[in-house]
Amino acid sequence: MKPPKRYLITSALPYANGPLHLGHIAGAYLPADIYVRYLKLKGEDVAFVCGSDEHGVPITLRARKEGVSPQHIVDKYHEMIKKAFAEFGIAFDIYHRTSDPLHHETASDFFRTMYEKGEFIEKEEEQFFDEQEQQFLADRYIIGTCPKCGYEEAYGDQCEKCGTSLSPKELINPKSKLSGNIPVLKNTKHWYLDLEKYQNEWLEKWIDSHKSDWKSNVYGQCKSWLKAGLQPRAVTRDLDWGVPVPVKGADGKVLYVWFDAPIGYISATKAWAKENGKDWKDYWQSEDSRLIHFIGKDNIVFHCLIFPAMLKAHGDYILPDNVPANEFLNLEGDKLSTSRNWAVWIHEYLQDFPGKQDALRYTICANSPEQKDNDFTWKDFQDRNNNELVAIFGNFVNRAIVLTHKYFNGIIPEVGQLDSFDEEILNKITQNIIGIDLSLENFKFREALRLFMNIARLGNKYLADTEPWKLIKTNENRVKTILYNSMQITAILAGLSEIFLPFTSKKLKDLINLSEIPWKDIKSYKTLLNQGHKINKPSLLFDKIEDEEIEKQIQKLMDSKKANEMENKTVEPVKENIIFDDFVKMDIRVGTILEAERVPKTDKLLKLKIDTGIDQRTVVSGIAVDHKPEDIIGKQVSILMNLEPRKIRGIESQGMILMAEDASGKLDFVVPDEKTTNGSGIK
Ligand code: 2FM
Ligand code: ZN
Repeated sequence: MKPPKRYLITSALPYANGPLHLGHIAGAYLPADIYVRYLKLKGEDVAFVCGSDEHGVPITLRARKEGVSPQHIVDKYHEMIKKAFAEFGIAFDIYHRTSDPLHHETASDFFRTMYEKGEFIEKEEEQFFDEQEQQFLADRYIIGTCPKCGYEEAYGDQCEKCGTSLSPKELINPKSKLSGNIPVLKNTKHWYLDLEKYQNEWLEKWIDSHKSDWKSNVYGQCKSWLKAGLQPRAVTRDLDWGVPVPVKGADGKVLYVWFDAPIGYISATKAWAKENGKDWKDYWQSEDSRLIHFIGKDNIVFHCLIFPAMLKAHGDYILPDNVPANEFLNLEGDKLSTSRNWAVWIHEYLQDFPGKQDALRYTICANSPEQKDNDFTWKDFQDRNNNELVAIFGNFVNRAIVLTHKYFNGIIPEVGQLDSFDEEILNKITQNIIGIDLSLENFKFREALRLFMNIARLGNKYLADTEPWKLIKTNENRVKTILYNSMQITAILAGLSEIFLPFTSKKLKDLINLSEIPWKDIKSYKTLLNQGHKINKPSLLFDKIEDEEIEKQIQKLMDSKKANEMENKTVEPVKENIIFDDFVKMDIRVGTILEAERVPKTDKLLKLKIDTGIDQRTVVSGIAVDHKPEDIIGKQVSILMNLEPRKIRGIESQGMILMAEDASGKLDFVVPDEKTTNGSGIK
């Protein structure tokens, strides 16, 4: 393929109805930012665009709930999100917004062109109408009983309890979320995108042509949509918040948010081009441009099938060359959730860890959910910072700079003849640089980061093995060569940091007194710091993150979990009174788990061998969802000894372990505060 003349890189437009969290950053923003920084370092012509997605029903619902206008909501979150991105170093060339008049005009024109070309199917259909509010009801404005699971608060488009996709007419006892009244069915006209036709004509072939260059998760999801057969999709809604449908007979109708949002990429490019003396058409309408969408996996269908269908139907636009969607990043083993406040909010992180953007960027990238969902934990964050950024990268750079100051007054010494060990290390570094280039080209950010850190590792090894601090008394010339090489490696790290760790890159460039480190010089291992160049005084690049800081964050999460549990708690009625004699009939003792193994062909059961102080017995316990066998050996437990033995899956269970069950069903052991003798009675 011919190399492109320019790149247009987009990141999914976040909804302006809540702050940014870790999951957003890991999905669509950090990978895009790294890719753009890489392209820019290589000197490519790039526009990196994003903005707030300010339309859609959730925003109107939130505004209603808070008693303010939708504009008020989006103004608040647009500013908040924009600030968080900027402070976190996500360097968009423009962060635009879809309530901007330029966007309304662009989206209107887009629709009108398609309308005039006869691309839409016009259909009149019965839809729910709230007579009191005199309004047609969007799917999310209708609630009722799910026909599949009986949940009484299912939405018109989906039951959040069982996950089934629904249409409003499938709900039992539908009710308007606006007035609480029963809605009536009334005719309304809408415009549909004929996806079925596009699938047959070209869309499926186009997706097939990307079988080998798109990520397998992306290609696979597209194929499964296509296999099910695409259906015409309505691109208009009866709603008073959005881009008005620009044709006759469409009063009170707006473009569906998923029709106008991706057009937001075009309006953002237009706004950026205007401010920067560029022509937006070069980026959108020229075959020598490459369009790449960075998104999370929940947006694949819109970016790989629907938006390309719109672009092609319109006729003037190029199609995306790649859509490297990420899977999801979970937090401490649980799905990120705004409503459950199970999240790391970026604006809070920036306050709690000032100046430590790169520590989080590094951890997210190292755990990037490129092929499958992945997990972020605070402990891993601390380890990556302390054991990798501080102990490897920071340590190498600091030693190189300190020694250059100590022996040569901070002046890059002259290089002598390289020996075979120098050659070996420098060759390996060159191999790593080539690997980084290749990995980034193919959207393999984790691998690129690993290779980047390898360069710092090699630097450390170089100093540790050559021991210039020992040689200085006997062979100053050799030390000159070693520190010359070490400082070149430092400069390579400073240059490459621009891609992954931009804040560190700036600090490090200041330390070595070098503002520009061109990619071609890094790649060709050209001298970056000349003999005689003066570097600045050493100062630490990274600080350790202490246990207390991590505990504080974990506590914050535990607090939100607790608050949620309290909110969702279904209080069990207190059971009937019993007399003391009934209670003392139970023989409950402390025991220790000696052995634990899964009961074959079950998800929940563990077979335990327990030392009860008076014997060793077998108990089958339903705790396998929350406890792994290898984690609980040696643990003390409370055991009800005189429960009638019974056979479970063919194993005789002689007693029962007592567990505390929280509102989410999670089971915890009921144990004494401190270890005690097996057989101690619980009374
Ligand atoms: O899923 C979301 O958060 C959407 N707001 C993404 C829109 S991406 C694009 F189409 F604008
Ligand atoms: Zn359901």
